[in-house]
Amino acid sequence: MTQSYPIDMSSKPEVKAFFDEATWTISYVVKDPNSSACAVVDSVMDIDYAAGRISYDSADEIIDYIKEQGLTVEWLLETHVHADHLSGAPYLQSKLGGKIGIGENITMVQDVFGKIFNEGTEFQRDGSQFDRLFKDGDTYKIGELECFTMHTPGHTPACMTHTMGNATFTGDTLFMPDGGSARADFPGGDAATLYDSIQKVLALPEDMRLFMCHDYGPNGRDIAWETTVGDEKLHNIHVGAGKSKEDFVKFREERDAQLAMPRLIIPSLQVNMRAGELPPEDKDGKTFLKVPINGL
Ligand SMILES: [Fe+2]
Repeated sequence: MTQSYPIDMSSKPEVKAFFDEATWTISYVVKDPNSSACAVVDSVMDIDYAAGRISYDSADEIIDYIKEQGLTVEWLLETHVHADHLSGAPYLQSKLGGKIGIGENITMVQDVFGKIFNEGTEFQRDGSQFDRLFKDGDTYKIGELECFTMHTPGHTPACMTHTMGNATFTGDTLFMPDGGSARADFPGGDAATLYDSIQKVLALPEDMRLFMCHDYGPNGRDIAWETTVGDEKLHNIHVGAGKSKEDFVKFREERDAQLAMPRLIIPSLQVNMRAGELPPEDKDGKTFLKVPINGL
């Protein structure tokens, strides 16, 4: 299935991970081995939701690293519209440049959540807040490093997996082998679709490095974020060792029915569907987030 993707395991980007303790998110700086160009994958903007306060400590850590290393940011990539943290992409873009990219099905996500949050017509549902909308098989470059995308829906309709040489960023399509997989019950999510998307990732070469978007340290182990296709195929507790689609869907749907909403889903969606921008200021120059009552 992946034969049509331009896989090049001989390109070996340098990957630096940043773990955000507040949201269990891993952000990455990926550097072209042959130039100073880099991409940032899934950056975080901090929020103290109880206080309604935004800050940028996580993003500043990434900015400091990029400046120290003398890197040039070409891309700010979102693997999907996250429901558990706010994107730091516009803040990084304002400091370092780069283009913000997400999957083209962002339009579906904007449509669904535009309705849930009762946004007016000024909220565009065409993905125009982003600089690039990726579709399955699209290619792009980080400096000289050739990269491609795979559409991997299921967790959300807009989920994309990004492969850069021998490094693949799965977003929430997979977790570490002992973490299994992400939920598939958000609007537009689907367990059977997620299973098919995971098979696409597992069809990449066995020694492809896989980088996760989240890790929760199951069973008390230290936080980890890197594995390989081979390891996931053998050991993933939800899809490894040849587990059937039927079993996966049954398990996933039963598990999802018991999960609470992510703590930051309400602010995250309102910001991330706008490419990480806060909603526009009101006539007094103040910014607000909404809480839809019984809307989710
Ligand atoms: Fe997610």
